[in-house]
Amino acid sequence: MAAAAAEQELLLHLKLAFLAQEPPACVLCLARKAGGGSVTPHVQNFILESCTGNNAGGDQNSTYVTIILKRIIAEAELSSDIVIDRLYEEFGQFMSSKSNNSSLNRTEKIYKEISFLSPTNDNKRVSLVARLSCSINMLEGDTGCSLWPSSLFLSEFILSYPKIFSKRCCFELGSGVGLVGVCLNYVSASKVILTDGDASTLENMKANMEMNNLCVEQEDSELLKENKNKVQCKYLSWEETSESDLWDSRPDLVLGADIIYDPVCVPHLIRVLSMLLKRRNNRGINNVADKEETSNEFSSGATEIPVAYIATVIRNVETFNCFDKAAADAKLSVVNITNSEAPLSLLPYMLSYDRSSVQLLKITLFS
Ligand SMILES: C[S@@+](CC[C@H](N)C(=O)[O-])C[C@H]1O[C@@H](n2cnc3c(N)ncnc32)[C@H](O)[C@@H]1O
Repeated sequence: MAAAAAEQELLLHLKLAFLAQEPPACVLCLARKAGGGSVTPHVQNFILESCTGNNAGGDQNSTYVTIILKRIIAEAELSSDIVIDRLYEEFGQFMSSKSNNSSLNRTEKIYKEISFLSPTNDNKRVSLVARLSCSINMLEGDTGCSLWPSSLFLSEFILSYPKIFSKRCCFELGSGVGLVGVCLNYVSASKVILTDGDASTLENMKANMEMNNLCVEQEDSELLKENKNKVQCKYLSWEETSESDLWDSRPDLVLGADIIYDPVCVPHLIRVLSMLLKRRNNRGINNVADKEETSNEFSSGATEIPVAYIATVIRNVETFNCFDKAAADAKLSVVNITNSEAPLSLLPYMLSYDRSSVQLLKITLFS
């Protein structure tokens, strides 16, 4: 019984890795694990039925599927007595559909389904699926259209501590593909404002929100006010933003994932953070009833000072030190909470995601 449940869990991980378009080596590793060390006919069938087949769902990318099938066939030929015929047939079909379609070019997008496992159900069930169009080309001007590990970590943090974000106005800097926005909406943030300083990233982000059934709110739209599933996607460049641009936002919480990487941008980022974290006399809560409704065990205190949560990978210590110094000069308190408020691991099937590389910072303005 326990062995069957364990096998089901491994097969679920294999399917989720496939839908998230994990690197082929990672998918292969999970396929091997699910088969107890080799890609057995049972696992081969599962791949055909649940990952690549017509019933599998998701947006199938023929190049990706072809690569996976090719690797699975090679592995099965090596490690298993039987390679099922349908695997060869399916591979042949994907090969021909791939040559009929224009092949994946450097600017083409791929669709990833990021499935977060349920924190309350022993990781056996999926609680949230975010569908995201991402760039396949990480480095050439497409940083904002790629999915970075910090946003996976920040998303796990949001889903692990939903009370921090529930009924709060949340404002993200450098939102990229918008994964954090999907999670904030899921945990019932009262307002979700996503921003980015890159126009094509913003367009992709808006399309992603719509793909996740979230309405992209026009700033002054009365029509959408009643709709719970809505987000604002705004152009915001750290260099150009002035205090008056931010005045209407009055966030309770500021978020950012992988935004500390360019020393040239650091002073501008610190300036924007300081403006957003300033307590404002007329911000947010107006009466006692509202106060009671919004206060919870994670409240930042009776005075409700805004708090920023920034997830970051420290690739270059000098850049990080530069951020730390500029923050101290701006009277920002930066506390590393990676271990003290560690999120649950909700993406165990994502072997390519190195959680240990991400640090989580809690930032407030000294009063
Ligand atoms: C490394 S990506 C991270 C994207 C997303 N947060 C994630 O973790 O997947 C950095 C993001 O910050 C945005 N960005 C970089 N410099 C910026 C600036 N000066 N003003 C506004 N946005 C900026 C980029 O366009 C990009 O979307």
